[in-house]
Amino acid sequence: MDLGIKGEQALVVGASEGIGYESAKALLEEGAEVLICSRNPDKLKQAAARLELACGRAVRWFAADVTRAQDVVALHAWLAQHVPRLDILVSAVGGSQRALFEELDDAAWYANYEFNVMGTVRVIRAALELLKKSVKGGRIVILGAAGPRMPYPHQLVSNVHKAGLIALVKTLGVEFQPYNIRVNSVSPGRTMTALWTTRIEKLSAERGVPPEEIVREFAQEIPLGRFGEPGEIAPMVAFLASHKTSYVTCQSILVDGGIARGLI
Ligand SMILES: NC(=O)c1ccc[n+]([C@@H]2O[C@H](COP(=O)([O-])OP(=O)(O)OC[C@H]3O[C@@H](n4cnc5c(N)ncnc54)[C@H](OP(=O)(O)O)[C@@H]3O)[C@@H](O)[C@H]2O)c1
Repeated sequence: MDLGIKGEQALVVGASEGIGYESAKALLEEGAEVLICSRNPDKLKQAAARLELACGRAVRWFAADVTRAQDVVALHAWLAQHVPRLDILVSAVGGSQRALFEELDDAAWYANYEFNVMGTVRVIRAALELLKKSVKGGRIVILGAAGPRMPYPHQLVSNVHKAGLIALVKTLGVEFQPYNIRVNSVSPGRTMTALWTTRIEKLSAERGVPPEEIVREFAQEIPLGRFGEPGEIAPMVAFLASHKTSYVTCQSILVDGGIARGLI
């Protein structure tokens, strides 16, 4: 299927690895011009080189920590210098802190809020004027999580903050409609990225069991019986970022191996 995004300008934030990287790759494969952003400049530069090698086109990059307002102001200035407009924005920054209520102080709550909510808010703010200039209408795709649809134990902060992102999507989809910008979210289930490899290593060390046992424990709760791969989430990101979903906005689409099975 041709997604009809050849030559369009896309910014992917959180793109040096994981779901963001695979999303950038999927957009490039569909012919979009892709700019990438994340925190660590060395990782980002290497990711741009890998993408260029895989897709044969230049990939420009800018390093910014989205939890720091001044970095995103700098991103805004860089974008204004480098692209006349944006057609697609993907925000793939976020994650969870495995903790119980009594282990979380105010600082932990605020840090996770910066990471999961304010980072995306700032990135949308930085891209908005350029998205308004998209000829066929801008598209924003935010990475949410399955958690708000079936709150996971030990994932309190991200369950709460990712639910906030769904509210953001549903509110902005209406507010940005006069600018012809659609806003949607992809909500992954357990996906094997650095987020999980780090967590598995930690749990394996804490419990003194092999990592494979931890993987089995979490995988058995998933109807498809295994973790997802980032390359299995990216096609949905590209689809929502395309013109094939021109009648879809304000939605949060699960790509989760069936783990969140609520009826509404
Ligand atoms: N993996 C899962 O199981 C899962 C499940 C549900 C939802 N999600 C969501 O999917 C999205 C992507 O997750 P992922 O698993 O692909 O993550 P990941 O593999 O940990 O990659 C995160 C990316 O974001 C960048 N990043 C992290 N903090 C940043 C910051 N403060 N400012 C700018 N960039 C930052 C990282 O680059 P640097 O290292 O350079 O900072 C990296 O490029 C997140 O929103 C996550 O919450 C993931």
